[in-house]
Amino acid sequence: MRERKEKGQNLISSLKDIIDLSRSFWKSKILLVANELDVFSKLSDSPKTAKDLSEIMKTDPRATELLLNAVAGMGLLKKKKGIFSNTEVSKRYLCQSSASYIGFALRHYNYCWDAWSELDQVIKRGHPSRFIEQEALRNDEKRARDFALMMDYFGRKTVVEIDKFLSLGRVKKMLDLGGGSGCYSIFFAKKYSQLESVVFDLPLVAKFAKENVAEGDLTNRIRVVEGDFLTDEIGESYDLVFISFVLHTYNSSEISLIFRKVHRALQEEGRIVILEYILEENDTRPIEAAIFSILMLVNTMTGKVHNFKEIKDTLNKNRFEIVKIQKLTKPDVLKSRNPFLIIAKKGR
Ligand SMILES: C[S@@+](CC[C@H](N)C(=O)[O-])C[C@H]1O[C@@H](n2cnc3c(N)ncnc32)[C@H](O)[C@@H]1O
Repeated sequence: MRERKEKGQNLISSLKDIIDLSRSFWKSKILLVANELDVFSKLSDSPKTAKDLSEIMKTDPRATELLLNAVAGMGLLKKKKGIFSNTEVSKRYLCQSSASYIGFALRHYNYCWDAWSELDQVIKRGHPSRFIEQEALRNDEKRARDFALMMDYFGRKTVVEIDKFLSLGRVKKMLDLGGGSGCYSIFFAKKYSQLESVVFDLPLVAKFAKENVAEGDLTNRIRVVEGDFLTDEIGESYDLVFISFVLHTYNSSEISLIFRKVHRALQEEGRIVILEYILEENDTRPIEAAIFSILMLVNTMTGKVHNFKEIKDTLNKNRFEIVKIQKLTKPDVLKSRNPFLIIAKKGR
């Protein structure tokens, strides 16, 4: 049983596994650069030669051909008589014109490349040279937008899943703290006609959320507030505070500060609803959650994926009583990082 479980977790068991794993970043960078050049969208109208593409992209013809050959070798392009075209998968996910386009997430991963390169120093120093994730979210409109688009893409799938376990029928006023694109508030406002929500986020992300809310015609029921929840007021008299995929950016003492503010901001009997990745088995599994923790190590100053004990203790310390813990098994794209829904009641 144990062995089967470990196999399911991609245990490394041969020299080939070690070699393949150590150079897997080669393939990753090839895909990320092809996406950065938007090769796939450029092939969406018509198949092209490497020379055609290098003229359009203003890149070196020889280097472009080698890149395209590798992308085709990896199975993300087809090559016939020197002419490149998209596969079904690249057409669906990597062409801007597709409704399932995910290239903005790949742009975000490519942006994180420099942060990963600092890992050696981070292990010595304990944190990156700068708060890379928030630098983008606070100062770089293009990167903040890619990040918000990525949150929106995954959030729209995730909210359908958490809707099965969460009833907001009696909630009149909700705070969506670090609400990103606003997609959770939008979904719930559409479902519950009595609900009003405040989406609170950093200014560049809030700008994106405002557009989303206006597009959903919900400006009368969803207010988007710009701010830093660690230092600014977060409002009051909420029935529910929703915190989704925010806590992994911070350490336990910052999370304690957030929970104290949330406690003050809630009505008596109010609830805090946390959606978060959770580490289990000595903080080593699932492997995707342990690896995501390293992404937080290189991208944030104090972040990591927390385990149940850390989240529970911090909730209890700040006078919250857990009433429900629900493991999410969908959407598939996030499942491997072990997302949980944790609902707690405000105590005295
Ligand atoms: C991983 S995203 C999750 C977004 C959204 N809750 C979701 O699940 O789709 C984390 C969000 O928290 C916001 N955030 C992080 N620290 C913040 C702070 N100190 N003040 C305001 N927003 C913050 C980020 O800008 C980002 O939008």
